Amino acid sequence: MRIYEAGILALLPLVIVNAIPFPPTLHITPPIQQTGEDQGIFTGGSTPFDGPKLNFFNGSASDWWYFDAVSMDGSTHVTITFLIANLTSAENFVGEFTSINSVIFTAGFANGTTYQAFLPAGDAIVTTAGDGASGYWNGTGATFSASHDMSRFEIYVDLPVFNVTGTIILNSFTPPHSPCSIDIINASQGLTDVLGWVNPVPDSNTEVNIAIGDDLIVFNGTGYHDKNWATVPLAETAAFWYWGHVRLGPYSLIWWDLFLHDTTEINHGYLVTADSVISVGCYGLKVRPTGFNSTFPPSGHSGNPQGLHIEYEFGNGKVFVVDVTGRVEWEPLFQVGGYTRFVGQGTGGFQGGPVYSGPTLYEWMRYIP
Ligand SMILES: *[C@@H]1O[C@H](CO)[C@@H](O)[C@H](O)[C@H]1NC(C)=O
Ligand SMILES: *[C@@H]1O[C@H](CO)[C@@H](O)[C@H](O)[C@H]1NC(C)=O
Ligand SMILES: *[C@@H]1O[C@H](CO)[C@@H](O)[C@H](O)[C@H]1NC(C)=O
Ligand SMILES: *[C@@H]1O[C@H](CO)[C@@H](O)[C@H](O)[C@H]1NC(C)=O
Ligand SMILES: *[C@@H]1O[C@H](CO)[C@@H](O)[C@H](O)[C@H]1NC(C)=O
Ligand SMILES: *[C@@H]1O[C@H](CO)[C@@H](O)[C@H](O)[C@H]1NC(C)=O
Ligand SMILES: *[C@@H]1O[C@H](CO)[C@@H](O)[C@H](O)[C@H]1NC(C)=O
Ligand SMILES: *[C@@H]1O[C@H](CO)[C@@H](O)[C@H](O)[C@H]1NC(C)=O
Repeated sequence: MRIYEAGILALLPLVIVNAIPFPPTLHITPPIQQTGEDQGIFTGGSTPFDGPKLNFFNGSASDWWYFDAVSMDGSTHVTITFLIANLTSAENFVGEFTSINSVIFTAGFANGTTYQAFLPAGDAIVTTAGDGASGYWNGTGATFSASHDMSRFEIYVDLPVFNVTGTIILNSFTPPHSPCSIDIINASQGLTDVLGWVNPVPDSNTEVNIAIGDDLIVFNGTGYHDKNWATVPLAETAAFWYWGHVRLGPYSLIWWDLFLHDTTEINHGYLVTADSVISVGCYGLKVRPTGFNSTFPPSGHSGNPQGLHIEYEFGNGKVFVVDVTGRVEWEPLFQVGGYTRFVGQGTGGFQGGPVYSGPTLYEWMRYIP
């Protein structure tokens, strides 16, 4: 296991992080995979924070930009993911895919109806300006664009085949961070040495205006963006993980509890408010399933748990405790194990302090037979 930099930031006031003034870049990834050994970037400083992280794509590699928005009551949401990956050999999906470039759009309405649009793409074109990335997946009608400092993202969808049009605008109020640090320049960007993750938008004030046919999804809520990449198939890198985010009153919490096939547990927590980073690091966080189907560790036959219990200890006697429950909103078919995305409500706060409720989106990924 790697040793990570970690630290308790006891209510440090937010400071402007000195970004490196990267020159603009342009990356074009064709829809056909290449052969050879990929190289991924797993430390900051040499390329834009939200930029592409792989030199090219063989059948094992993935690079994706993920966005979500959830209404404040947790009843309604949208997600959109811009992917470069062979979805069968690198990401474990079942299906026949004609391109390694794709966009997946999902939505959930207040009445529980879920929606999915899958869009194969031609070239995936990514430009960077400062640390921000903008993407154009040719032929899909979906784009994203970022400000240089990643404080604002605009996503446009115009998917004629599906009658989906609209915008998702994220205005971040939380500093971007690397897995174990708010340093976006010199810190590691690896959850493991082959799995990368950075979080340009931990939480944001987000405006959603989407029409799906005659149905509207219009709300102002919470929004999130991360970027993920791997040089080897995901099913080889991890056994299972619990990832998610929740807004609780003034607090925004991001969690990762990732288990490797050798049972190593890698955890990551980020607790932040609009004024301060309360804690960031790769220690002290634990996520366990609760209620029905909460067998732990889970097997490939375990059903979806009713909820998750998250405890985040800061080493100074303080503990942030959250329980989340949600509806199952997306469950694509996997070759091994499965994937479940939940959207709903979280409840919690500092142990002994005020208890807050708020919107959450979380996932349970498992590559276990
Ligand atoms: C892709 O490259 C990685 C090296 O980063 C290597 O481990 C993997 O075997 C390669 N995959 C294929 C299908 O060539
Ligand atoms: C993905 O990998 C599979 C298995 O190696 C291969 O059959 C398929 O053609 C690849 N898909 C693309 C779009 O390259
Ligand atoms: C749920 O709401 C959507 C959007 O308004 C609508 O299209 C759908 O028919 C509704 N489903 C049910 C079962 O009422
Ligand atoms: C997008 O795809 C179309 C159709 O294949 C092609 O004519 C066009 O040049 C492509 N645009 C870019 C920017 O790659
Ligand atoms: C899109 O809208 C048109 C016109 O209302 C309709 O004929 C078509 O069936 C819709 N397509 C889908 C995928 O909903
Ligand atoms: C990053 O590391 C370089 C080289 O060690 C150092 O000069 C620079 O000050 C560091 N930047 C930050 C933000 O820590
Ligand atoms: C969302 O916020 C914007 C800007 O404050 C406002 O113009 C808009 O009406 C709000 N939308 C909803 C659905 O509340
Ligand atoms: C637990 O998971 C199983 C699938 O393995 C499912 O059939 C069952 O309904 C789940 N239990 C509850 C209470 O939802």
